Amino acid sequence: MESAPPQSVIDFKGNVAAADAVLWVTPEYNSTIPGVMANAIDWLSRVDRVMIGKPSWIVGSSMGLLGSVKAQGHLRDILFASGISSPLLPGNEAYIGLVHEKFNEQGELNDEPTMKYLDLVADHFVRWMNELSQLKQLQSQT
Ligand SMILES: Cc1cc2nc3c(=O)[nH]c(=O)nc-3n(C[C@H](O)[C@H](O)[C@H](O)COP(=O)(O)O)c2cc1C
Repeated sequence: MESAPPQSVIDFKGNVAAADAVLWVTPEYNSTIPGVMANAIDWLSRVDRVMIGKPSWIVGSSMGLLGSVKAQGHLRDILFASGISSPLLPGNEAYIGLVHEKFNEQGELNDEPTMKYLDLVADHFVRWMNELSQLKQLQSQT
């Protein structure tokens, strides 16, 4: 199937290839990421390996206190696999625990400290991503 993938995979990989970076948003199931997310990453890691060198940022949540900390640890490991090789900004980890208390009826985040923290980390990520892309440009010129 890898040489003639379904249209959904072609579209998904095209979107990822066109993006400057990927934001991974994960819940946690039995201390790891959902099976469907692992499957999506597997597609990205084969044939035209569209994640290689593309920066990633991870955000996750759970109803427990730890906010998907174990799932995110696994996800980081997977993103360092050779077929993915995605750079990650050190630190700036976003674990949203007790997530059911932080969204309103419309499904919008309404917890001020969480919003402020996500804004801060998003700002750090964008700055780092831009620096990384300038570095890549310089390296390609030399
Ligand atoms: C099989 C299963 C395993 C789960 N394992 C964890 C877990 O390891 N850590 C956690 O914080 N929550 C866990 N949960 C709770 C999910 O994170 C929670 O259901 C989450 O909101 C996902 O949304 P969903 O249930 O609507 O898919 C688990 C839920 C299920 C159904």
